[in-house]
Amino acid sequence: MLATDRKLPLSGGREKRSYVRAMFTAIAPRYDLLNHPGSVIGADFVLPMLVLGKPKSVRVRPVNADALELPFADASFDGATVGFGVRNLMDLDAGLVETARVLRPGARFVILEFSTPKHQPLRGLYFFYFRKLLPLIGRLVSKHGDAYTYLPESVLAFPEPDALAAKMRAAGFREVTYERLLGGICAIHVGVR
Ligand SMILES: C[S@@+](CC[C@H](N)C(=O)[O-])C[C@H]1O[C@@H](n2cnc3c(N)ncnc32)[C@H](O)[C@@H]1O
Repeated sequence: MLATDRKLPLSGGREKRSYVRAMFTAIAPRYDLLNHPGSVIGADFVLPMLVLGKPKSVRVRPVNADALELPFADASFDGATVGFGVRNLMDLDAGLVETARVLRPGARFVILEFSTPKHQPLRGLYFFYFRKLLPLIGRLVSKHGDAYTYLPESVLAFPEPDALAAKMRAAGFREVTYERLLGGICAIHVGVR
């Protein structure tokens, strides 16, 4: 008898309960294979970031790789996202082109990155926090001499949202849009390959 010929206990009751329990017991080891067919890869070129990040998401497969030379085939991903990463690339344009290379046509690329608020008083407060307070607090907490001086300076040196959108278009993304978040402290850009 084919499995599909069997009468399923759909109307409820104890029979349904034991059927459902037995079914999930049987499929549990392979459940994720069918219900989450997409595999998610997390790439970073700093191994400790991958190791310490691993427990935060069991579904993400960490890969130690440079965003400028991704070890993946052309058009092999259905989407890509990066949070507070592209600002750190030694060559932003090359990084955008490399991401475009590994994405399939129609795939989305989402970038979350710091920006600078346009309006006062938030702009003034932001600069005070970023340039005066954060380096001080960051030095005490991270025990690193200048990581939290690098952070604000790299944000200030990073292209404003319009300019980043233009770079994404130049790298091969279309329908590029962005939204400023939290009064402009961050911006989220979306582009379609
Ligand atoms: C500010 S952290 C952001 C981490 C994480 N996305 C988050 O939002 O918490 C920036 C990360 O980008 C990584 N990174 C910087 N340049 C990179 C490159 N060229 N290739 C791969 N990873 C890079 C750093 O190692 C670091 O882990």
